[in-house]
Order: sequence, then structure tokens, then C-alpha cells
Amino acid sequence: MSTTPNESVVGSRRLAMTLPRLADKKRLGEPIVMITAYDFPSALIAEEAGVDIVLVGDSAGDVVLGYGSTVPVKLEEMLMLAAAVRRGLQAPLLVVDLPFGTYEASDEKAVENAQRLVKEAGADAVKLEGGGPAQVARVAAIVAAGIPVMGHVGLTPQSATALGGRRAQGRTAERALAVGRDARALEAAGCFAIVFEAIPAAVAAELTRLLAIPVIGIGAGAGTDGQVLVLHDMLGVYPGQALRHSKQYADLHGQMLAAIAEYAEEVRGGQFPSSENTFSIAPLELEAFTQQLGDV
Ligand code: KIV
Repeated sequence: MSTTPNESVVGSRRLAMTLPRLADKKRLGEPIVMITAYDFPSALIAEEAGVDIVLVGDSAGDVVLGYGSTVPVKLEEMLMLAAAVRRGLQAPLLVVDLPFGTYEASDEKAVENAQRLVKEAGADAVKLEGGGPAQVARVAAIVAAGIPVMGHVGLTPQSATALGGRRAQGRTAERALAVGRDARALEAAGCFAIVFEAIPAAVAAELTRLLAIPVIGIGAGAGTDGQVLVLHDMLGVYPGQALRHSKQYADLHGQMLAAIAEYAEEVRGGQFPSSENTFSIAPLELEAFTQQLGDV
């Protein structure tokens, strides 16, 4: 086993991901792996799979809370989901989304809510969407309060309505330059990394070279410093065609459906539970029990 300073495994123990290690990964050209998680079991599996960053995304609104968008997600819901993920994670960096409506109003509110995610849920860092002047000010305030912030530009689902729907961003020179200016401003405000969502690959690659901080892409091509996928998309939890920006690595919908349907059939057919799933009682005890049953 190699023992370079950047080595992320010592013996059988993985080193905890830190901001300097992430920066090293960019410098060394080592791809950064990030995935979303929303509960304890998926956190345990992400840990075991050796990912670098786990994001408790407000995509929870789409994939686990059934809202159909990220907009209704509440801070209290993020706190509950993130705390469960925290209990299953050791080595990966835990980043938690500030949901819509929890950071826009003022720097004070943004800092207060970021502190709640750190203190009550155990987040290592928070993420917020957008790179306009207000968001840049919020990033600076949260960073000044000692909490690392990940930025997010391009398609920002919390403001999808204003962007004309969930569509790719930066597809004209003017719009691509605007994405670049937002990203640079977030970097200058102190973001330790930034998500590029649904941006043309060539634009994302150029901007990734320009930025000193790591860029994690989703639907932004192979030229970013790392990739992030939404867990339920890549596991195929929902049936239907795979999303263009994602890749389906499993068919959990099919497997879960088959398992639950088989269970239902076995219950109805009397095959489950069998003797293997049943507890026994000594015959004498059973006899005594049945004799005294009338007294119950
Ligand atoms: O909420 C989320 O899951 C995200 C990722 C798509 C980056 O923001």
C-alpha cells in the first residue's frame, strides 16, 4: 500500500475527508465522489462504498418526502434526515443543504440556520444555491461564523421557476459567462467547493480550470473535479427512463416490487411464516398455558 501524504486509507481505516484533502484531490487530479443520502442505512452503505462526500440534499423533497419539488422542504425535515445520516457516517464529509426560505432573508437568519444544521444534525458543511449578490453575502457570513459552505450554480432547483423550469443553464456565451462570474464570486466569498448542475460540458471544463476550489458536477460532463448523483436516481428506485444527467446503476424498483409481491403472495398462500420463522414453546408449558387460558 502506498503511503503518500494524500493517501486516504491507513491500514484498514479510512481517513476522514477534510477540506484540505479535498483541495489536494483537485490539485492531484483525483476525481471526487459525492452522493446524496437521506437515512441511516444509505449512509452506512455510502461509507462502506468509500465515497468522499455525502450530501443530504433538499432533493429529499423529490425522492423521499414526496413533495414533487425541493421548494416545500423544511429545515426541521433536513435536521431529522441529516441527523440520521450523521449516525451512519464516519469518513466522508457530510454536507447538508439549507432548504429554500432558510437563508435568503438575511445574513443573521442564514448563519442561525446553518448553525442548527451543524449543532443539531452534525453537518460538517452546508450548501446553498445561487451566486447572486445576496447568496454571496450569505456565504461570506456563514463562512465568517466558522461553517464551511459549498456553492451551487447552473440549474438551481430551488429557483427552477425563475429559471424557466428544470433545464440546462449556460448554453449561450452570455449565460455561460454569468455562471462563471457567479462561481468566481462564490469562491471569493469563501466557498470550499461548488456544485455545477446541468451546464454544458465544455463550459464546465473551462470554468473548472479557472477555479481554484473543487468543482463537483451533475450533468456537467467529465471535465469537473468530481461527480455527484442523487441516490434514488442512480439506484433506480423510481421506474421510468433514466434522467439524462444521471446513470442508473441498479433497478431497486424492480427488486423491491418483486420482493414485496412475493411476500404478499406467500402470506396469502400460507407459505409465510413457516416453521423457520416461528418460535416454539415446550409441550408441558403449552399444556399448562392452554389449561389456564380461561383465567386470562
Ligand atoms: O439536493 C441535491 O440533491 C443537490 C444535488 C443534485 C447536487 O443539490
